[in-house]
Amino acid sequence: MTEPRFLHAQWSSRMAFIFAASGSAIGLGNIWKFPYLAGDNGGGAFVLVYLLCVIAIGIPIMIAETLLGRRGRQSPINTMASLAEAAKASPHWRYAGWLGVIAGFLILSYYSVIAGWAMAYILKINSALFAGIDAAGSARLFETFKSTPEYQVIWHSLFMAATIFIVSRGVSGGLERATRYMMPALLLMLLVLDVYAMNSGGFAQGCAFLLEPDFNKITGAGILAAMGQAFFSLGLGMGSIMVYGSYLPAHVSITRSSILVASADTLVALMAGLAIFPLVFANGLSPTMGPGLIFETLPIAFGQLSGGGWFGMLFFTLVFFAAITSSVALIEPAVAWLSENRGLSRSRASLYSGSACWLLGLGTAFSFNIGSELKWFGKTVFELVDLLTAEIMLPLGGVLVALFAGWILSREHSEAELEMKDARHYRIWRILVRYIAPAGVLIVFLDAMGLFGR
Ligand code: PFF
Repeated sequence: MTEPRFLHAQWSSRMAFIFAASGSAIGLGNIWKFPYLAGDNGGGAFVLVYLLCVIAIGIPIMIAETLLGRRGRQSPINTMASLAEAAKASPHWRYAGWLGVIAGFLILSYYSVIAGWAMAYILKINSALFAGIDAAGSARLFETFKSTPEYQVIWHSLFMAATIFIVSRGVSGGLERATRYMMPALLLMLLVLDVYAMNSGGFAQGCAFLLEPDFNKITGAGILAAMGQAFFSLGLGMGSIMVYGSYLPAHVSITRSSILVASADTLVALMAGLAIFPLVFANGLSPTMGPGLIFETLPIAFGQLSGGGWFGMLFFTLVFFAAITSSVALIEPAVAWLSENRGLSRSRASLYSGSACWLLGLGTAFSFNIGSELKWFGKTVFELVDLLTAEIMLPLGGVLVALFAGWILSREHSEAELEMKDARHYRIWRILVRYIAPAGVLIVFLDAMGLFGR
């Protein structure tokens, strides 16, 4: 294999990698997206399909992606290119890397707008407007906020500026420090919200909705949404885990780290769901509220709790931090590539790619107001970018990673990199990436296209 042309910094320890990878995984996907997708797609059955996808497809691909990153030690595009060259495979594999860079870009463009909502709520939630608020009042405030284009642009710009700032400070300076304290704090906060939800009067109904599968409620589109969400939430299929893997020192167990990260990610999503659905039912709301779900329901809790305003501020601050540690991962493949191939400094690379994302994000910022009528295939810019990335590009990128790690990379290399003590574990992983994960994704795609007729 050709030696990397460019040596990146490395994580200072295994824990640093785990924190950064969890930082990338845990984000708006868990707190904002998982609950509303579960709500839109019938609850329990969606959650069950989601969990199956995490275990049978997500974790094996996460291991594969980290492994390729650590072997290649470069940006995803160059890693794929040099590993393919070493294995005498087609140089076209580099396009899998490109697919990831583009997906990351597209995701960040709308991610930044939604993260901007969380930032805005840090300031809004503790105001008199929310004191003792009911469901209708909370919905009205959110609606006004969403439909004002100026607010959308301002908060989107502030979030993107924060992302550019952190990314330009580099691997250990910015990324490591940001994740270390925020994740445990977020977990604690969700726990408090779960306890509140338990006493809200809707807990039994909320739990039943989220945890008892009703298969009549799930469609092919719902299954595809669950699979897309598994990729999105774990942060897979677009090279960011690959870049993080490329900063990973040798001899850190990739398998154990991946399982740990995936478990933490799933736990946070379930905890968010358990905090939100009891409130939905206790207040007579419908779970199918779409992307506004957490912004309309949680403020009711904050508005009714004594000292809830401060509590709400802290909560949205943590959501903001969870979002920023993910946004940094979304842009990292592009930044790593620009520094390697175009010789740009990290700050310039971050500035250029962040600005391009910002511009693209205006499409989403306006999807909720002046641009809401602008539709293709009946979808707004936001919906289109979201579906294209989560339901097509990420699963496709993930399958390419799985196929590469399972079929192209030699057995000696993957075995050496994974250093599994038990040979059976290695065999299980290999079967999962060679057959199960690619076939699973294919079946879900075909099912969503209605090919199995239902
Ligand atoms: N996993 C992040 C979330 O759940 O919010 C989003 C994300 C980050 C997706 C990094 C993809 C990625 F590469």
